[in-house]
Formats: sequence, structure tokens, C-alpha cells
Amino acid sequence: MESGGRLRIINVVGGRPNFIKIAPLMEAMGAVPTIQPLLVHTGQHYDHEMSRAFFEDLEIPEPDFFLGVGSGSHAQQTAKVLVEFEKVLEEARPDLVVVVGDLNSTLACALAAAKLLVPVAHVEAGLRSFDRTMPEEINRTLTDHLSEYLFTPSEDADAQLLHEGIPAAKIHRVGNVMIDTLRKYEPMGRARRAAKTLGLAPRGYAVLTLHRPSNVDEPEAFGRMLDGLETILPGCPVVFPVHPRTRKRLAEFGLEARLHRLDHLRLCAPLGYLDFLSLLIDSRFVMTDSGGIQEETTALGIPCLTLRENTERPITVSIGTNRVIGTRPDRIAAEALRLLDGEAPRGAVPPLWDGQAARRIVEVLRRHAARKEVGR
Ligand code: UD1
Ligand code: UDP
Repeated sequence: MESGGRLRIINVVGGRPNFIKIAPLMEAMGAVPTIQPLLVHTGQHYDHEMSRAFFEDLEIPEPDFFLGVGSGSHAQQTAKVLVEFEKVLEEARPDLVVVVGDLNSTLACALAAAKLLVPVAHVEAGLRSFDRTMPEEINRTLTDHLSEYLFTPSEDADAQLLHEGIPAAKIHRVGNVMIDTLRKYEPMGRARRAAKTLGLAPRGYAVLTLHRPSNVDEPEAFGRMLDGLETILPGCPVVFPVHPRTRKRLAEFGLEARLHRLDHLRLCAPLGYLDFLSLLIDSRFVMTDSGGIQEETTALGIPCLTLRENTERPITVSIGTNRVIGTRPDRIAAEALRLLDGEAPRGAVPPLWDGQAARRIVEVLRRHAARKEVGR
């Protein structure tokens, strides 16, 4: 602990989904006099619309440390974060490191901290797709096993961690921090009317996002998904904010011209949080391979078609509005038609996805600080 007796906590962000998860945690920690929150940005994502835009929309404080690691192979990116984050740990000497999600930055920072015997808290612990071809599955599994505090969003995650031999005392079910951000900014998102700006009527369009390597890194797989999309468009305009990985692949595979020729397809750059939330709120349905968007659509009651073979977020299917439909064009077309015909899952919001997850996490960490003081 620092000399003032405050718990010094380093919070880590690297890329787009991390900003949305860390914003409510920084806010909740900032309100506790006995906690000193610091922020480290690894620089895994660096385009304005993948990074800076979220600091602005979500009022996230400037990072105390910026590692500038950028893009690279998995080994390069993970290794760069490891080396740079170790220096930060030595300089800042935190009492705890908080990592969120399942990025390469998440695993690298958890590993560097654990090796220096700094306790790690993992927010969004216990999610599993059981698909080791997803780089995120490796990141989230290893991060969980490096962590002292495992903050879970749902009961299935607790059960999985127990099954993997993690002691119950380390597991804290707190709900979903991504939904904290959603609930806080929902009124602003509604007021934005992003669809109207695009000339689209509320409920008169669908939203598409794609960035998983399994969908966009192979020209045949990507092409098949576009076949599915093509059959939907005449019945329903689709807005497609294109992730930088996807943009790069579209150019490499020579698929840009095909997309530009499609009537009713609205391609755009990645959107800031408020514009994207606004677009989700007014949409008829969403097609995605994103993890976070499966959760946000469930919280908003918007039907979601997940264009993957599996999900690490099964509660969005069992309780929420999600259908995991794979990537065959005929299935995509058929499921979209079902939704347009009004056959949508009703869905409910999972327990503890109530906008208070960060507050619960900080309460657990405060108790930790109090115990440390008593033990001195
Ligand atoms: C990463 C995460 C993924 C997460 C996604 C969220 C890993 C292994 N993957 O995937 O879990 O769902 O972020 O969006 O951590 N690029 C840019 N500008 C940027 C960032 C990336 O042009 O600001 C391009 C680069 O060409 C880069 C590629 O996108 O090589 C992929 O970026 P990377 O961070 O490696 O993985 P993502 O696909 O973004
Ligand atoms: N998002 C956004 N603008 C976009 C696309 C997504 O603000 O153009 C938000 C989305 O609302 C969600 C988060 O980014 O909060 C999800 O990030 P992403 O899909 O990149 O990563 P994943 O959740 O799959 O790890």
C-alpha cells in the first residue's frame, strides 16, 4: 500500500471492448477515498475510432501509462505487453492489477503481474466457448488461472471455474460491467438518433459487425457470409461498421467492390460508443460475431443472430435474445427472415445485469484492503 494507506490498483485496457468495461470500474474506484486507481493503456488498439473515441464518449480519465505496443503476431503483441507492463509494475508498485475480458493485453498483463506476485483480479471470468481455435479462449482460460479474484457475470461462469478446480472463495458473482456502461449511457444513446442521421427508420434496418478471425481471415468463409447477407438486403437495409481487421481483409481479398455494389448495405467506419449504442437501440435485429454485442442486445431486448458455431456467453441464449446460428448463407437468410416475420425471441435480462456490477467489484476489493490493514 502507498504511504497514505490507500490501495493502489492498476486497471488495464488494450482495445475497444476493454474501454467499455473499465469505464464504470474507474468511476466506482475514483469515488472511494481508500483506493488510488491508475490506468494503463497497452496500445493494442490505436486508431482514433478504436481507442480515443471511447475515452471521449465514456469520460475515461487519461491513462497514467501508455505502452504503445500496436499490432503484431500473437507472440509479438503478447511479448511486447509483457516486457512493457513489467516496467510499469516495477515503477508503480501496485497492490492489485485489474484486467478485463480476453484480449492479448489481458493475458500479458495478468502474467507479468502474477510473476511479480502482484494479485490479479479478472473481470468477466469463467466464460468459455470450449473452442481453442479462438485466441480469446486461451487468453481467458489462462488469465482465470493466474487470478486471485475472479469476478463473474453469470452462474454458468461460476460453475465452470469450480469445475476447473478454482476455489469457491476466489469466485465473486457480480454481474456484467458492460451493462453498467450501457445503462449509464442509454439515455444519451436514445437521444442521438444515429439511424435518423443515416436516413433510416427505427426498426427499419439491421446492424452487422464482423471481426473474428474464423469469419474474416479466410476468403471463402468471408465470401459465404456475404452470400447470406446478400439475400437479406432486399428485405431489410443493413448497417455495417467495419472493424479494422475486417477492412484489411476485405481489401486483401478484393471483396470491397462486391460490397460497394450491394444496394441497401450501409458500410461505415467503426462507430463511437454512443453512436453505435444509438444504432443498436433503434435496430430491428443484429447480426454479429462480437462477444460484447451479444450481451448488449440481450440487455436491450433486441434480437441477435450470432454468426459463429459457439458462444462463451450461453446465458444470452438461455435467458436473452441471442440465437447462435453459424455462418451458412441459407441459415443466415432463414433466421433473418424469421425475425422479419416477427418470430423473435422475447428474452429477459439476466440476474445482476443491473448497472451495479462495478460497485459490487469495488466493494469486494475494499474488503480486501480492510483485511490487509488488519493483518499489518
Ligand atoms: C482484438 C482481440 C479480440 C477482440 C477485438 C475487439 C486479441 C487476440 N483479439 O482483435 O478478442 O474481440 O480486439 O475489437 O486480443 N488494427 C488497426 N487499427 C487498430 C487496431 C487494429 O488497423 O487500432 C488492425 C491491424 O491490422 C491489426 C488487426 O487490425 O493487425 C487486428 O488487430 P488485433 O488487436 O491484433 O486483433 P483484433 O482483431 O482487433
Ligand atoms: N462497438 C462500438 N462501435 C462499433 C462496434 C462495436 O462502440 O462500431 C462496441 C459495442 O457496442 C461493444 C463493444 O464495442 O460495447 C464490442 O467490442 P468488439 O465487438 O470489438 O469486441 P468483443 O466484444 O467481440 O471482444
